[in-house]
Amino acid sequence: MKDITIAIDGFSSTGKSTIAKELARKLEYIYVDSGAMYRAVTLYAMQNNLISKSYFHKDKLVQDLIKINLLFRYNSELGFAEIYLNDVNVEKEIRNIEVSELVSKVAEVSEVRRKLVQQQQQFGINKRVVMDGRDIGTVVFPNAELKIFMNASAEKRAQRRFDELTKRGDNVSFDEILKNIEYRDHIDSTREDSPLKIAKDAIFIDNSNLTLGEQFNKVYCLAQNSMNSN
Ligand code: DC
Repeated sequence: MKDITIAIDGFSSTGKSTIAKELARKLEYIYVDSGAMYRAVTLYAMQNNLISKSYFHKDKLVQDLIKINLLFRYNSELGFAEIYLNDVNVEKEIRNIEVSELVSKVAEVSEVRRKLVQQQQQFGINKRVVMDGRDIGTVVFPNAELKIFMNASAEKRAQRRFDELTKRGDNVSFDEILKNIEYRDHIDSTREDSPLKIAKDAIFIDNSNLTLGEQFNKVYCLAQNSMNSN
């Protein structure tokens, strides 16, 4: 079996990371959540008063990029690597609705993308990586052996996100989440630098009506086929 690179792209809250994490565990590959990196840079900007709903000091953030150190550390209890921003575990904080509301603005900045894409490419230098995001199959790993593009209706995605956030105790409304998802879909797919689009050679999966088990089996079979092909 050959070592491969697996790119999983799609709109927000399509369940990409759940599938990607599980796939990486089963294949004993590295899993990288590229969205977590954009979220961590956004958190840095929030903590340093560089961004809010009413302002964005983009140039200052670009100047500060040199001070932002991101790394993933494997947590054996959780079974995946958590993200650290300047040595602080921010895995939970970056999922807050406040970060979700601002992250698309940060992800539009080309200098931010350049820095993060470089680091992502380093993670995949020896293949054996499953990475999920928006531009993984188009920009980060255009030569990935397996590219998957996942989507589901905005309502289904909002419901999943709502369940996830309320389960962990966050006080959020369904409408607020749906609005945020629609807003991010729009910015992510219309921005100038690396907009979300399906790679020509990606396999499209609409998971609106698929269980997690069904999605996983589908993706696992595709990975096996790809690892066994010449
Ligand atoms: O997957 P997520 O919702 O955690 O991603 C957060 C944001 O980061 C998303 O709205 C767009 C951006 N993103 C991106 O531009 N490129 C990626 N490869 C991953 C995420």
